[in-house]
Amino acid sequence: MELEQAILERRSVRKFTAEPIPHETMEQIVRLASYAPSWKNTQTVRYTVVEDRALLDRVAEECVLGFTFNARTIHRCTALAVQSVVTGLSGYEPDGSYSTSKKDGWEMYDAGISAQTFCLAAHGLGVGTVIMGICDDARTAALLQLPAGERVTALIAMGYPESAALQAPPRKDVDELLRYRP
Ligand SMILES: Cc1cc2nc3c(=O)[nH]c(=O)nc-3n(C[C@H](O)[C@H](O)[C@H](O)COP(=O)(O)O)c2cc1C
Repeated sequence: MELEQAILERRSVRKFTAEPIPHETMEQIVRLASYAPSWKNTQTVRYTVVEDRALLDRVAEECVLGFTFNARTIHRCTALAVQSVVTGLSGYEPDGSYSTSKKDGWEMYDAGISAQTFCLAAHGLGVGTVIMGICDDARTAALLQLPAGERVTALIAMGYPESAALQAPPRKDVDELLRYRP
């Protein structure tokens, strides 16, 4: 798939078929996502994949802050990638102080780049994804027994799309997004 086509055609997918995602495909998606740039190449982003239906249903019921739209998406997906970051590295000096005024904001920045790379890689392999920011980070980390020192950054629901070629929500004009100085 051409890069421009992949960027234009990737959509947030919220309805999936029942076909499971092979583990080789999942591993290829994470392999490709590992090529995302990161703060000093610290590579702090992790993916914990849930496939078990009972556990998916618990995440849907307990970990979305009551946002039923996301609960429905998780009930429908075949796999859920819980994205987390190892804290205390991205944005930090070796002595533990912050490198810049953005403090630990670079952890989320790295997670965002990784998530987009993950979703594009999945799209290239025919797998639909949707990044979900509305989730209970602490509850999710506890339920999935994530290692101490990691924090949940997003949930990514995954599966083969139920319908092909979803319509893109409208985008702003380049004139609004881009300015030159002077
Ligand atoms: C940081 C972030 C948080 C998001 N959170 C949610 C969410 O909680 N639930 C959801 O259904 N979609 C969520 N989305 C998906 C956006 O709604 C979607 O990307 C946007 O509407 C544009 O559609 P597209 O991805 O198909 O281009 C999120 C996307 C991002 C980048």
